[in-house]
Amino acid sequence: MPLEEAAQAHWERYRHALGETPLPAALVDLDSLESNVDRVLALARGKPLRIATKSIRSPALIRRILDRTGGAACGLMAYAAAELAFLRAQGLATNFLLAYPTVQRSDVDLLAAANRDGAIASTIVDAVDQLQALDHAAERAGTIIPVVVEIDLAWRPRPAPAHVGVWRSPLRTVADVAAFVERIAGFSHLRFHGLMGYEAQVAGLADENPFARWQNAPRRLIKWRSRRQIERTRRRLSEMLHPALFNGGGTGSLKWSAAEPALTEVTVGSGFLDSHLFDGYRDLALTPAAYFALQVVRRPADGIVTCHGGGYVASGEAGPDRLPRPVLPEGLALILLEGAGEVQTPLRVPHGSTLSTGDPVFFRHAKAGELAEHFNEYLLVRGDRVEDRAPTYRGLGQAFLG
Ligand SMILES: Cc1ncc(COP(=O)(O)O)c(C=O)c1O
Repeated sequence: MPLEEAAQAHWERYRHALGETPLPAALVDLDSLESNVDRVLALARGKPLRIATKSIRSPALIRRILDRTGGAACGLMAYAAAELAFLRAQGLATNFLLAYPTVQRSDVDLLAAANRDGAIASTIVDAVDQLQALDHAAERAGTIIPVVVEIDLAWRPRPAPAHVGVWRSPLRTVADVAAFVERIAGFSHLRFHGLMGYEAQVAGLADENPFARWQNAPRRLIKWRSRRQIERTRRRLSEMLHPALFNGGGTGSLKWSAAEPALTEVTVGSGFLDSHLFDGYRDLALTPAAYFALQVVRRPADGIVTCHGGGYVASGEAGPDRLPRPVLPEGLALILLEGAGEVQTPLRVPHGSTLSTGDPVFFRHAKAGELAEHFNEYLLVRGDRVEDRAPTYRGLGQAFLG
């Protein structure tokens, strides 16, 4: 089928599935989701997967993904202690890694309770004040909390005083990590469980950004140069500390990090729903699986339609790549001076478009998890019908980041 006809048929299929569903609505295409899980498994080549729940935010969807991995997942990567406790209460997993440190009393008590009650609920640490808070909580609960030490893997090319990457751990070198691991032994209610080395400047940098093409070559160079340094650091850490768990990787670096012997597991989240920031990565070949639909409510001029709602802009470095993308029907474009608006979003339509008021337009969000903060449920579409519904955290009354 020619591409144009295929896109039209794709739009018709989702339109049919929606029927009279009130818009805006969010949907997940189950065939695409399943093919992404299979693709992730192929790219991981047997390396255990840790599922990043921040990039899904729906227990029913997490369950579907876990089921499809057929045992290849070693656990969940949570983004908040309360989220971890919530997912545990839903019976989704017994092995968790809380990937962002906390010293808040309610959080450390939840972690301690999860461990006391039989789960492995490990958490990232990189500073002594975190160890103290966790140790006190574990003592109160009469348990041991497993801790995972994170090393900063930003690229710092010498002699420039540059930090290319994200700001995470203050532990910069293998010696920093080894010294910190020794300090854990001084806390009687903590146990050294492993290491995390997340290479954000590799996983989070697309090879091709259509909005800043001139940056593509330097980006690829940064990735290539810093990868070699990261491999060396992770190998040395693994040889020195023999961690039971060594986590790294993300969707954007899956193929490469899965091949790294030092890592015992790789993290993947966004790859399952394949939000549009992942279009610019070589070697991924995923299929868009999550969409939201807005209703066309106006035709303010020839060549323009206006949809109701749509301002679901992604977090991170602000820029046009953080805006949602209208993808079905084909050929629509945001008007950059207006972008995606809080209550209405105008779009340029191609010549000859038959899009009329009441029709749905399907968009993709830039990031996989944040879409779930705008909707109570995902409609789970198979073919041209809604097969099931998956409540999001929001739909279940849960908000873990405020
Ligand atoms: C610690 C950690 N690992 C991995 C990832 C990658 O997740 P995803 O596969 O959703 O890109 C992230 C994303 O922010 C992260 O914070």
